[in-house]
Amino acid sequence: MTVSSEEWLERAQKVLVDGGSSASRGPRVFKPYPPYMVSGSGARMTDVEGREYIDWMMAFGALPTGHAHPSIVAAATSAIETGSHFAASTPVEVELAEKFCQLVPAAEKVRFSSTGTEAVMAAIRLARGFTGRRKIIKFEGHYNGWSDAVLVTTNPQPVDTLGHPNSPVGIVDSSGIPPGAIEDTLVIPWNDIEILRRVMKDRGREIACVMTEGIMANIGVIPPQAGYLQEVQKLCQEYDSLFYLDETCTGFRSAPGGCAELFDLQPDIVTFGKALGMGFPLSAIAGSHEIMSGLAWGNVMHFGTMNASRLPCSASLAGLNLMSEDDNAGFKLLRSTGEKLTAEIQSLFRSQSRHAVICQGDGPLFQLFFTDRPSIDCFRSYCRDVDSSKYNRFANLLREHGVYITPSNTLHSASSMVHTDADIELTIKAFEKTLQQLD
Ligand SMILES: Cc1ncc(COP(=O)(O)O)c(C=O)c1O
Repeated sequence: MTVSSEEWLERAQKVLVDGGSSASRGPRVFKPYPPYMVSGSGARMTDVEGREYIDWMMAFGALPTGHAHPSIVAAATSAIETGSHFAASTPVEVELAEKFCQLVPAAEKVRFSSTGTEAVMAAIRLARGFTGRRKIIKFEGHYNGWSDAVLVTTNPQPVDTLGHPNSPVGIVDSSGIPPGAIEDTLVIPWNDIEILRRVMKDRGREIACVMTEGIMANIGVIPPQAGYLQEVQKLCQEYDSLFYLDETCTGFRSAPGGCAELFDLQPDIVTFGKALGMGFPLSAIAGSHEIMSGLAWGNVMHFGTMNASRLPCSASLAGLNLMSEDDNAGFKLLRSTGEKLTAEIQSLFRSQSRHAVICQGDGPLFQLFFTDRPSIDCFRSYCRDVDSSKYNRFANLLREHGVYITPSNTLHSASSMVHTDADIELTIKAFEKTLQQLD
């Protein structure tokens, strides 16, 4: 007998917090209840009740080659059959590092870890160790993982406000973070170079790194203003602070070399996660020989039992080889598919007038905003101008028509290189029906 998603949720809530392992997959955003999935193939996923969805989340962007791609299945199967992890270095780790450095211009050397959060923690420690400075600058609405020092002003609906005199405008996004953990974190608005210029003028010589996403991908999708990131980089150079690009969302998605390649930047440190692992836990910290040598012999300490284990490295190498074949044809397809979908959604929204709604995106990343504004350019505008409850209703209704996008307006949706024109067409029809249903 089939057990429904609703019944799975009931069972799950007895043993798993919120019925799952991350709030962004749980009943708070997936209404009336989250679908429990049993399989995925290509661009589709199937839930416990046999309902199929066109998947535009792709495991939060971790599956640029789609579900169960044969090349990745073969590489992962072979790694499992012959030993998934050793207390030893492996050739595949070296081959993957070579491939990484070939694709990512900012990377002369790389260190692997398992999750984006870990990579960010190591990168911040490295920046502090390398510069001998304490302070870091992060931006409002940028989510850089859930570690203490950066969990400040990431959420439009803060759960707790401790406040602290040394964090000028930061709002702490979790209970359990002591003021000391964030006293060296300065949080400022993004996409406004004058604000950063003023802060750097006052405190630039104290700043170990300015950390930024290349495209804001955790408050929907908000691209940088033209030239903004170049100016951030210049200011970092002027004050000998490190320019740190967190490419967890954009790495191996926006371009082979991430936003650094897309916007022609030369970051001092980059971190990658999500797409790097091709569905397995893998992240990376990378930079020049000089900066990365800070990690040598545990000078700046970074350890990890699961670092560069053979299974994710094998899957990653297979995926990156696949995407970079034929002059990066897979990467180009990933981008063009996202662009095609975004353009079709925009055109649908323009031609129907009942709801004020826009679609913002860049390549494979996209998000909808129910708003009267022509665009959403920063965190504050998102908080002020976007009807995220309406979006949540839209995304949850859309699933009834077989299309799966994130129901959380702060996250983003994602294309893969295996979505087809037919998937786009079906998605647009589902959007049309859902807009008609929406009150
Ligand atoms: C920009 C950015 N940095 C870091 C992280 C943390 O990565 P993880 O969820 O793998 O810990 C995320 C996750 O969404 C992210 O978007």
